[in-house]
Amino acid sequence: MLRLGVLLSGGGTNLQAIIDAIASGFLDAEIVLVVSSRSDAYGLKRAAAAGIPTIALSGEVYADPALADRLIAAELARAGVEYVVMAGYMRRVTEPILTAFPDRVLNIHPALLPSFAGAHGIADAFHAGVKLTGVTVHFADAAYDRGPIIAQRAIPIEEDDTLEALEERVHAVEHLLYPEVLQWLAAGRVSINDQRHVCIGLP
Ligand code: GRF
Repeated sequence: MLRLGVLLSGGGTNLQAIIDAIASGFLDAEIVLVVSSRSDAYGLKRAAAAGIPTIALSGEVYADPALADRLIAAELARAGVEYVVMAGYMRRVTEPILTAFPDRVLNIHPALLPSFAGAHGIADAFHAGVKLTGVTVHFADAAYDRGPIIAQRAIPIEEDDTLEALEERVHAVEHLLYPEVLQWLAAGRVSINDQRHVCIGLP
C-alpha cells in the first residue's frame, strides 16, 4: 500500500477525490499526512473528517522557503511518506523536499503543460482562444509546473463555452486522473528512462 503525503493550500477537492478513491478500493494507498501552507484551507477540514493527521504552516514559516521545506520534508519522512502529492499547493517545492523524495513529488496542473503554466492555467487557456486544453500530472522539479510528465488528458474548448463550464470539466477530469496515476504508482508501473521521460508499464 502506497503511503502518501499531500500538500495543499486551498479547497482540497483533489485531496477529496484521492480520499474517495482509497475508500472505494480503487486506489491502494493511504494518506498519512496532509500539510497545508494556509491554516484556513478547507482541505484541512476534509483531511480531519477522513481522520488524516494534518499540519498547517503559517506565512512566516515560508519567509525562509528552504527552512520551511526542511521542516516539511522532516515531517513527511517521519510519517513514512513514499510519494508527496501536491494538490493545489501554491508554493514551490525546493531542494530539501526534492532531495528527500527524488522523483517522488507529484503535481497536478489544470492545463496541458508546458502550455499555460502558472496559477491561472484554465483561464489563461480559455482567454488565449485555444481549442484544446486539459490536465497534466507530472513529477515536480525545482521550477514551477515543470518536470517529467506522467499523464495528460485533453479537454476541448467549445465555441459557446464559458470559463465556469470549462473549469467544471477540467476539475472533473483532475479528480479522475490523479487517483488513476497514483494507482499506476501503487502498482509499480511508472518509471523514468534515460531521457527523463516517463514510461507507463502494462498492468
Ligand atoms: C487544481 O485545479 C489543481 O490543478 C491546481 O490547483 C487546483 C486545486 O484545487 N494545481 P483543489 O484545492 O484540489 O480543489
